[in-house]
Amino acid sequence: MLLAKPLSDVLGACIEGLDLSQAMDAEQRQGLADALHRHGFVVVKNQSLTASQMVSFARQWGRPSPHVIDTFHHPEDANILMLSNVFKNGQPTGLVDAGTYFHTDYSYLDDVARCTILHAKDVPAAPNGTTFANQAKAYADLPSEMKVKIKDLVVKHHYGNRDDLDKQSRSVASVLNAEQAQRVNWVRHPLVRLHPFTGQPALYAVSGSSFGIEGMPDDEALDLLRELAAHATQEKYCYTNNYENGDVIIWDNALLLHSAPLIDLTRPRTLWRVTVLYPSMH
Ligand SMILES: [Fe+2]
Repeated sequence: MLLAKPLSDVLGACIEGLDLSQAMDAEQRQGLADALHRHGFVVVKNQSLTASQMVSFARQWGRPSPHVIDTFHHPEDANILMLSNVFKNGQPTGLVDAGTYFHTDYSYLDDVARCTILHAKDVPAAPNGTTFANQAKAYADLPSEMKVKIKDLVVKHHYGNRDDLDKQSRSVASVLNAEQAQRVNWVRHPLVRLHPFTGQPALYAVSGSSFGIEGMPDDEALDLLRELAAHATQEKYCYTNNYENGDVIIWDNALLLHSAPLIDLTRPRTLWRVTVLYPSMH
């Protein structure tokens, strides 16, 4: 039986005494999935995974999917994206800033991400963490008139941060090259999405990749999305998780928005990331 210790009233749980380099049995897998769906993210302490062990762990959740930015794949396994501010021979070894604004991973794709897994390999002392915002709680607290208004709305998404498109800014979405940009298109997702495993409703990607709403003029749609984003990222829905070396964190992209910290470029910081799609249902 896994013991998931809550990190706050709003989000997050921590698990100790689990070795993710070993295959989990069915009961452990279910326990970890239940903790993820209940708490939004789970931190497993004191791990030291190789690239192939991390990807094997990721496969227990669904299909790993390499990021559209293919410049910084791990040399041993392309499913791992290197997040790092370390330079070798004058060349960056990873993506430095990755999503320093509220967003959810892969909301700009038809196949959205079930969860994202980070493994802290070399992180500076806190504060160094990701801020998460609980979108199920934010939805539950909306006035009933707003719930009725947004019930069947469909949102138009595209890669990028709708509130910052300046390519020089550090809160723009990581800039794509021409070939990468060709691989992202407009996609549509419900504004209120039911969790694929629990059925719980949550606001989905009201910040980040959401640029419009079907059947609504763009200025009106942006006003509504911004109003919902301001509501959904209030401090009462947020928790910032600081990382320690060896942490493996798994977060549920159906339940949360998240925002990465602006990195202090003078302090080395390297994490590995795998983004996982839902398992094939057929
Ligand atoms: Fe992200």
